[in-house]
Amino acid sequence: MQENLKQVFLNEINSINSLQELINLKAKYIGKKGIIKEKLKNLADLSLEERRLQGKFLNELKDFIEETIKNKEEELKQKEILESIKKDFIDITLPGKNFYFGGSHPVNKTLLEIIDIFRELGFTVEEGPEVELDYYNFEALNIPKDHPARDMQDTFYISEDVVLRTHTSPVQVRVMEKKKPPLRFISPGKVYRCDSDISHTPMFHQVEGLMVDEDVSFSHLKGVLVYFLKRLFGDIPIRFRPSFFPFTEPSTEIDIGCIICNSKGCRVCKGTGWLEVLGAGMVHPNVFKFAGYEEGKYTGFAFGMGVERLTMLKYRIDDIRLFFENDIRFLRQF
Ligand code: DAH
Repeated sequence: MQENLKQVFLNEINSINSLQELINLKAKYIGKKGIIKEKLKNLADLSLEERRLQGKFLNELKDFIEETIKNKEEELKQKEILESIKKDFIDITLPGKNFYFGGSHPVNKTLLEIIDIFRELGFTVEEGPEVELDYYNFEALNIPKDHPARDMQDTFYISEDVVLRTHTSPVQVRVMEKKKPPLRFISPGKVYRCDSDISHTPMFHQVEGLMVDEDVSFSHLKGVLVYFLKRLFGDIPIRFRPSFFPFTEPSTEIDIGCIICNSKGCRVCKGTGWLEVLGAGMVHPNVFKFAGYEEGKYTGFAFGMGVERLTMLKYRIDDIRLFFENDIRFLRQF
């Protein structure tokens, strides 16, 4: 009967697969209320001879059970470690997951390129407010209240005296009020006009430029802007057309040979073979007066350009609204 107990134990332990089951088994056989303890208690009822034999046997069985459980525990722990290694195995030879890096917005790319070129020419970068006084946006740029040139720009008015700036030109006056020549800076930023179609959005970006010193001439203007356009677009034809801006005299608009049709004439250049890319001119004496500069002492040139327009030409994009729709399929191409 006692040999039978050993066999029953062995059968039971062999069918065990977890540490928890083993703990239960240990309690069942050699715990405080286990089978062995019970049997040792019952020895009292036996004869001395029987008690001796049974006691020896039970103690040996207890040692055997303890030893067997210890070995089984070792075996189960080992198995658990192997299983967790197998489960957490990472196959480093599998191909990685595809993911996309974010990129610069095309308008920002062009802007950074423009800034880089002018930096190399010694221009610094200045900023001005987007919510601007009528005074800086118009008055100080030689555009008085009743001036017809105000109609050229569809202004968002915040109040009678405050506007969303319609161009970056007000930064010219703000900087000149604070700094004395020599001045050589560009001013990139957002501008606002009440206008929306295939080539206009209510917000877009401009880069303003100003160079002022004691004898800056139109040839400086030409040299700087021709160099700039050739850096941005490569070796393209360039022409200067007489134009009018209230804050420059003389004023000019600068065209590049149409890069869409190679100057042959197409829909984009309206058959002329030319595309307008810059407004510029020699700073009007009245603007220097508004800035508080001594009369007749300085000359300078100014220029302004639309960043979206330049980006559209560079990447052959035919609808300005694409820039602001945030369609990832469009943006991913840059
Ligand atoms: N402010 C003009 C515009 O928004 C662009 C411009 C033309 C800026 C001539 C200038 C300039 O500085 O000299 O249309």
